[in-house]
Amino acid sequence: SDYDLSIRGGTVVTASDTVRADVGVRGGRIVAVAERIAGAAREIDASGLLVMPGGIDSHVHLAQPTFGGPKMSDDFETGTRAAIAGGTTTVLPFAMQPRGAGLRAVVQEYHQEADGKAYCDYGFHLIITNPSPSVLGQELPALVGDGYTSFKVFMTYDDMVLNDRELLEVFECARGCRALVMVHAEGYDAIKFMTERLERAGKTAPYYHGVSRPEIVEREAAHRAISHAELTDVPIMIVHVSGREAMEQIRWAQNRGLKVYGETCPQYIALTADDMKGLNMDESGGKYVCSPPPRDHASQEAIWQGLQAGVFQTFSSDHCPFMDGVDGKRSPKAKTSFKWVPNGIPGVETRMAVLWGLGVDKGRIGMNEFVALTSTNHAKMYGLYPQKGSIAPGFDADLVLWDPARKETIRQELMHGACDYTPYEGLAVTGWPVMTILKGKPVCEEGRILGAPGDGAFLKRGISPYASK
Ligand code: URP
Ligand code: ZN
Ligand code: ZN
Ligand code: ZN
Repeated sequence: SDYDLSIRGGTVVTASDTVRADVGVRGGRIVAVAERIAGAAREIDASGLLVMPGGIDSHVHLAQPTFGGPKMSDDFETGTRAAIAGGTTTVLPFAMQPRGAGLRAVVQEYHQEADGKAYCDYGFHLIITNPSPSVLGQELPALVGDGYTSFKVFMTYDDMVLNDRELLEVFECARGCRALVMVHAEGYDAIKFMTERLERAGKTAPYYHGVSRPEIVEREAAHRAISHAELTDVPIMIVHVSGREAMEQIRWAQNRGLKVYGETCPQYIALTADDMKGLNMDESGGKYVCSPPPRDHASQEAIWQGLQAGVFQTFSSDHCPFMDGVDGKRSPKAKTSFKWVPNGIPGVETRMAVLWGLGVDKGRIGMNEFVALTSTNHAKMYGLYPQKGSIAPGFDADLVLWDPARKETIRQELMHGACDYTPYEGLAVTGWPVMTILKGKPVCEEGRILGAPGDGAFLKRGISPYASK
């Protein structure tokens, strides 16, 4: 047979087109998209379903140490199992450089964590905490050449913050090696000032996490990062944008012709600061603590405007899971102040369903925009195109079969990761993944995992076309 697999009778949706077509697969790749593909060794009936590129989640944290804080609940095995259950076939987690450590050694450690364990394909961004001359001069350019073509820098957090001079040095290095820099834009000093003021007033509950880092703090840092990017003439991606203020900075930069890109996440369309109040004795507000924090309904509307207007290129989960319990969000230390509640929430499994349910199903974005925001743009932005991110001959056969009519209520019992809660518990959505296919192999069907650890491979990424001026 010409085909190992054909997906028949579905509607193929890409970032640009919606067509009734069959998809033919051979050797793990798409080899044909045609009106009728008969005679494959195996046929999957997709009638009534949408056939979309498998999700690419370009912002997840797996098995990342937290410097004395609680352990992240997902490693590469459980985190990528959750990914495929949610329709995602590629993740880009971070290899974080602890201060003082050499980057190459760090990358090797993350490979040891990941190799043979992943259910889906993966690459790594590098988190730069120590931009020494040898890191910037030798290690980074060599690692970019080896397929680690994007870095993240932080403007806050004691263990990771870079000062302005260091940001400029990293930006200049990225310009030289054509890497894409992701920026965590929240201002360190303002957060510290606000945190200490709140603590002096006895305002230490999880809710005050949000008060300690309002949108002003995110706007200021976004503007500062944009200024540094303009000064060094380098494209940047501002990640996890939470509301209008930072979004408007990015739009302003884009209108000036600067190559400034934006990412937003499910928590900024589905949660608000009020969630951090906790609803009753059993519900901890800590479950929703992440940075930047969820804002309010007006901010959610601003995020939709940014998604509709193309200010944001990518919709990522920022999956960063901690248990909701004494070994995580409710540790004895975390009870003393919001500042000790580990930052981050799970979301890799629910990302696509949340955007479909609140976006496509509610008429806020179209199906093609959905594919762009959950897959295609991630591939283009991070050097995976044209291997990943679309449905056409030559692409990897990474697909999600999507039922746009399926009603589900997101709840923990449906989840496949190691975390013990979902922040979207009780959210009713219409539209759900019914089958995930990785390189031609069905790896999840109706919530049943068919794949195995090791199905996923490391992706050596190319230079991002967006990183070039
Ligand atoms: O709270 C969050 N988002 N934690 C993950 C780390 C980060 O800054 O992306
Ligand atoms: Zn490896
Ligand atoms: Zn961040
Ligand atoms: Zn993150």
